[in-house]
Formats: sequence, structure tokens, C-alpha cells
Amino acid sequence: MATELSSQLAGKVALITGSASGIGKDIAETYAQAGAAVGIADLNLAGAQATADAINAAGGKAIAIEMDVTSEEAVQAGTQKLLDAFGRYDILVSNAGIQIIDSIDKMPYSNWKKMLDIHLNGAFLTTQAALKSMYAQPEPSTVIYMGSIHSHLASPLKAPYVTAKHALLGLARTLAKEGAAHGVRSYVICPGFVKTPLVEKQIPEQAREKGITEEEVVKNVMLGNTVDGEFTTTDDIAQLALFLAAFPTAALTGQSFIASHGWEMK
Ligand code: NAI
Repeated sequence: MATELSSQLAGKVALITGSASGIGKDIAETYAQAGAAVGIADLNLAGAQATADAINAAGGKAIAIEMDVTSEEAVQAGTQKLLDAFGRYDILVSNAGIQIIDSIDKMPYSNWKKMLDIHLNGAFLTTQAALKSMYAQPEPSTVIYMGSIHSHLASPLKAPYVTAKHALLGLARTLAKEGAAHGVRSYVICPGFVKTPLVEKQIPEQAREKGITEEEVVKNVMLGNTVDGEFTTTDDIAQLALFLAAFPTAALTGQSFIASHGWEMK
């Protein structure tokens, strides 16, 4: 989390999904420090409340919103809660996500559908709910999708994740075209590995699946293609999300931005 206070997002209202933990939590804290009022939307209400309480205690403005991004009703109700609390809606960060590791020949169909439901359908539902307000406001607004390095490349055992993260590029590009007339700009952030609970869980799972040690998973599988063997951090991603939300023109709309220590360059 950045420590400097700024006013880059003063008067703006943001909703960040999956912000009880990891990358989303850091983005919410960073946006609040930049002056935005933030909705901490997550399946995990207790975690969302803890994040909101910490932001409010630090002098920011935040509310916790219980939201399963795969439920149209929950997304609509959560969006209304944001509007009731703060009166407008300027920035959506569609970030909620999970990981399920399995090979294509063995993965149960239910897991395939669950992954696409959270990563892709959740992005659609939260976008559609946000656009009702964003299209009605004269000021520009921003939609950021949390893609991944896997929006641009594939790894074994991650078929639905890779598929959904690639698909977010299509959604962002279409929104850039459709939203332009309404001042809506869209972006995809594509992180390399960031040490969050989502990744901590994968280390032993991948070691088991691949028959290698956990150290080998980190050094060779996760960071082997970086230029310096370093993890990307939640703060790296939060600073990029702040830069994009505060960017003053539509020059960058529709683009994806890779932050991966040189693992992939496009
Ligand atoms: P995390 O596990 O720390 O946080 C994910 C949050 O999403 C949790 O608070 C969880 O409760 C919430 N969530 C899960 N399902 C939900 C649902 N149906 N509705 C609402 N909230 C739900 O994970 P992390 O690492 O912060 O991941 C955030 C996003 O960043 C994900 O989309 C992930 O794919 C993406 N990402 C993560 C990378 C990493 O290395 N950690 C790399 C590239 C992308």
C-alpha cells in the first residue's frame, strides 16, 4: 500500500471486487489514499468489513459490500449499496478471482464452469451494472479488468483461467469501442505472479502435480522466465491501477498492461 496521501481520485467513487484480500485490497487502500470513496465488494463479508474498517480508521471513506460476482442479483444489490452510500460510480475494478489447477483431460466440467463464471461472467455482470450509472454521468469513468500474464500466454494445468483471462481482452476492447461515446475507458492489467493467498495455495498444488519441490515451483515455474527472479507485488499493481484510473484522456483505452518483471513483453 502506498503511504503518501494524494488527491488524484478526489470526489471519485470506486467499486473493487475481490478486495477483501491480495491485489484488490491493495488497490482499494491505494484508491482511498488518493481520495476516492471505495466499495469493498467480496464474497467474504468479514474480510471486506475489516478492509473497510482499516480504510475508515486511516481517514478514508469505505463500505463493505457482500457480493458474489456470479450472481446477477447480488451484483445489482451491491451496486445499489455503493450508490446509496456515495451517490455516484466512477471506477470499477473487476478483480475477484480464484484458481483451480487441473489438466484438460481430468478437469470436472463443474470446475471449468465455476472458473468462467467468476472470472468472465462476473466481469460482465459487474460491468453491466456499473454502466447504468457511468453512462448517465457526464464525467469520464473507468473500468479495469484484472487479467493476467495468462491473458497473453498459456501454462499447462490452467485451461479455464487462461481462457477466461484471454477473453477479458475481448470484453475490454469491445467496451472501449462502445463506451467511448459515454466517456467510459477500459483497461486490462496483466500481472505476473504476485504472492497472495491465491498463489500461496498453488505452490504445493503445482509441486504435487508436477512431481517437483515447492522451491522448484517458485524458482523455475513461477519466476523462471522473469529477468530478475522477483515476484510482482500488490503495490506494483495498485500503482498501475491508480495511474490508469487517474489518466486524463482516452489515449490508452482498450489496452492491456503487463507487469511481470520481463516474463512477457508485448
Ligand atoms: P486473493 O485470493 O488474495 O483474493 C481474491 C479475492 O476474491 C478474495 O478476497 C475472494 O474472497 C474473492 N472472491 C473469490 N470469488 C469471489 C466471488 N465469486 N465473488 C466475489 N469475490 C470473490 O487473490 P489475488 O491474487 O489477489 O487475485 C486477484 C485477481 O488477480 C484475480 O482475478 C487473479 O486471477 C488475478 N491475478 C493474480 C495473480 C497472482 O499472482 N496473485 C497474477 C495475475 C492475476
